[in-house]
Amino acid sequence: MGERLRDKVAIITGGTSGIGRGTVDLFLSEGAKVVVGDVQDHRGEEMTLSLGPDFSYQYADVSQEADVKALIAHTVEKFGRVDCLFNNAGFGGVGGELHEIDMDGFDTTIGVLLKSVFLGYKHVIPIMKDQGAGSIISTASVAGLQAGFGPQVYSACKAAVAHLAKTASVELGPFNIRSNAICPGGIATPIFANALDLGPNAADEFAEFMKPRLAKLQPVPRSGIPNDIAEMALFLASDASTFITGQIIAVDGGLTAGRVRGLSDAIDFEATINEFLSKQT
Ligand SMILES: NC(=O)c1ccc[n+]([C@@H]2O[C@H](COP(=O)([O-])OP(=O)(O)OC[C@H]3O[C@@H](n4cnc5c(N)ncnc54)[C@H](O)[C@@H]3O)[C@@H](O)[C@H]2O)c1
Repeated sequence: MGERLRDKVAIITGGTSGIGRGTVDLFLSEGAKVVVGDVQDHRGEEMTLSLGPDFSYQYADVSQEADVKALIAHTVEKFGRVDCLFNNAGFGGVGGELHEIDMDGFDTTIGVLLKSVFLGYKHVIPIMKDQGAGSIISTASVAGLQAGFGPQVYSACKAAVAHLAKTASVELGPFNIRSNAICPGGIATPIFANALDLGPNAADEFAEFMKPRLAKLQPVPRSGIPNDIAEMALFLASDASTFITGQIIAVDGGLTAGRVRGLSDAIDFEATINEFLSKQT
């Protein structure tokens, strides 16, 4: 148990799975009070039973303004303040080539990946201004920094999230509110299974299955894990980083630094899925 977030209150969206779930554990272990907003109520309820009084879960579809507003209001009501908002919820979104993308899928993807982050800023800023301090962190992606790491609309949203973190920092700096984005590389989480519609039971198993494959993506020869991102979120939420704002920080084992000679950075997802499914039966 540490004390790096002692007396701090954090909201983590998408906190019932993957990166968000790992961040919940780390933040709690560093003394924070944590509120999770997510759409997976069954997981949220399990966490409420196991994590104790410093934790609270509330259903929030982050693409819906009323839900984001209510999540932030719930946090203030329950714990009295909001020191950190971690805009982290996400999914792979609509896929396919540009000319095939259906506009409902486009709107849904923008809603979950970009509008959500905007809504987080919109509704937490007044509270942080009143407090005279705050740290807003958003999960972008290496797909927002370089082409070829994710679906088209996903990548465009992540680039926008990263840039919003930067533009917001200029507006918010005078109020002692910091704004940064983290760009994860390949992190073994259920997101891959969810994107492929493998179903919730296979999701965690598939994340494990992906680890040796993700290990080959980048110079550091292992898969990223949720705690890698949680540690950066902890640093950005803590008072160790009070002079750091407007930054877009890759946590990617060197993936965006360059390609490892002799290693391909492409994962053949179709072959991987087929291999996974053949092992299931
Ligand atoms: N895993 C990676 O390799 C990777 C790489 C770069 C960026 N990211 C980003 O990291 C973030 C976390 O992803 P993860 O890998 O932990 O995936 P995950 O699927 O394990 O977790 C995502 C969480 O977001 C929640 N969520 C999805 N839509 C939501 C909505 N409309 N409202 C509220 N919650 C919603 C899900 O229920 C889930 O709990 C995402 O923003 C993702 O784009 C992941």
